[in-house]
Amino acid sequence: MATSWLDFFNGEHALYVNDRHKALHDRLVARDVAALVGPGDDTVLDFGCGEATEAAAVAARCKRLWLSDAAPAVLGRVAQRFAGDAVIRTATPSEVEAMRDATLDLVVVNSLLQYLPRTDLVRWLSIWHDKLRPGGRLVLGDVIPPDVSPLTDAVALLRFGWEGGFLTGAVAGLVRTFFSDYRNLRAQLGLSTYEESDILSIVEAAGFTASRRRPNIGHNQARMTIVGLKDG
Ligand SMILES: C[S@@+](CC[C@H](N)C(=O)[O-])C[C@H]1O[C@@H](n2cnc3c(N)ncnc32)[C@H](O)[C@@H]1O
Repeated sequence: MATSWLDFFNGEHALYVNDRHKALHDRLVARDVAALVGPGDDTVLDFGCGEATEAAAVAARCKRLWLSDAAPAVLGRVAQRFAGDAVIRTATPSEVEAMRDATLDLVVVNSLLQYLPRTDLVRWLSIWHDKLRPGGRLVLGDVIPPDVSPLTDAVALLRFGWEGGFLTGAVAGLVRTFFSDYRNLRAQLGLSTYEESDILSIVEAAGFTASRRRPNIGHNQARMTIVGLKDG
């Protein structure tokens, strides 16, 4: 069994109930991230990018899209998928740390904070702040408030399954999750959760002007998206 969230993501896992769930998830996240890319956002970093199978939709709206993930197996597949792409490049988290300061226009971090200890979040906020240009934006998506239970997540998944035509798969996936590594890890390692006021002050303390943005990225509207503006 995995002993850390990173091990979990680096191995074979069933976070997505089936291929259709995964495809629809990736498409929805890519659509929402693409919509965040504004005029002048030439250089974008997607940190904790996951498989990013639909990243081309984001790449179509910028000049350089950096995809970074700490799981070597995930990043390896992403690098292979986009080898030769004119816009997309991959970077390990250490390579992100080594990037020149003030060179990024937009940093998107979706559905990662729950897997990061708070101390790591504070460290990364300071790095993302350094790498963004003045006036650049940090977007933290899918941040979990403490009062969101696994049941709320299950209901959101069932709704996504109903709308996306994979309801049977969603039900089967929930049963599998109940007996899975994910549930054990969630019980053992927990997930980092934040009150809205809490995450806003952590992001402000890193030097950003922070605000909540609705809707959240992706399908689960019980979770939050927070935008941090690096003052210009
Ligand atoms: C739930 S997935 C989210 C993927 C994608 N952002 C999305 O919204 O579909 C979390 C991703 O974060 C990565 N990850 C976990 N810990 C990390 C860390 N400390 N630094 C960077 N990436 C990390 C995992 O490997 C995994 O691919």
